[in-house]
Amino acid sequence: MSHEIVERKIGLMGVLIALVISIGGLVEIVPLYFQSTVTEPAPGVKPYGPLELEGFDTYISEGCYNCHSQMVRPLQAETERYGHYSLAGESVYDHPFQFGSKRTGPDLARVGGRYSDEWQRIHLMNPRDVVPESNMPGFPWLAKQQIDPESTVAKMRALRKIGVPYSDADLAGAADQVKGRSKMDALIAYLQSKRYIVPASPAPAGQP
Ligand code: HEC
Repeated sequence: MSHEIVERKIGLMGVLIALVISIGGLVEIVPLYFQSTVTEPAPGVKPYGPLELEGFDTYISEGCYNCHSQMVRPLQAETERYGHYSLAGESVYDHPFQFGSKRTGPDLARVGGRYSDEWQRIHLMNPRDVVPESNMPGFPWLAKQQIDPESTVAKMRALRKIGVPYSDADLAGAADQVKGRSKMDALIAYLQSKRYIVPASPAPAGQP
């Protein structure tokens, strides 16, 4: 009987559908707020240094995320190509996070150390100098744009307000680390920081 009432009253049915979907959603989302694996940094993950942080901002302002993701999925084809799958705790200091899903180019979550700084510089100036078939655009102007040290310190202060643990000493030394450096230098430092070595889990008791 009551089933019939719901089927006849489309408004009521709509409300009930919304209720069921909300409960289903909350059951999936709410526990995530309380799991340390997604809210706390993975072991060994540190906030970006001043130059890397400027590189992170350059990455966003130049729209690199339109063609590159930064999330290795837990699938064999991905882990064989890129390395260990991404952990949520690796990106707790990314504001905003850069997971993405658009892959015109390869995933960059583990690109740090894959190439030399010099390779990265040539590639960013004109990708076809090192990868002839590349359709990635060049970003030569970044080599001419200087970083404003004052804005770096302001950015770090803002990030500290939302929970990134920069110390007073970090802030005090930041300006000197970016002075005279270009956005190109910063972007390369950022790309080279994109690596994460998952610590080996301790051997079970009684085993070497
Ligand atoms: C229009 C799409 C597009 C944009 C925008 C783009 N890329 Fe790429 N990127 C590619 C493609 C395609 C490749 C693969 C060919 C190559 O290596 O050049 C690539 C390759 C790369 C690689 C080498 C990755 C590897 O594992 O071999 C790096 C590093 C990179 N891009 C960084 C960047 C950065 C940093 C930016 C922003 C400044 C950027 N890309 C913007 C398309 C793009």
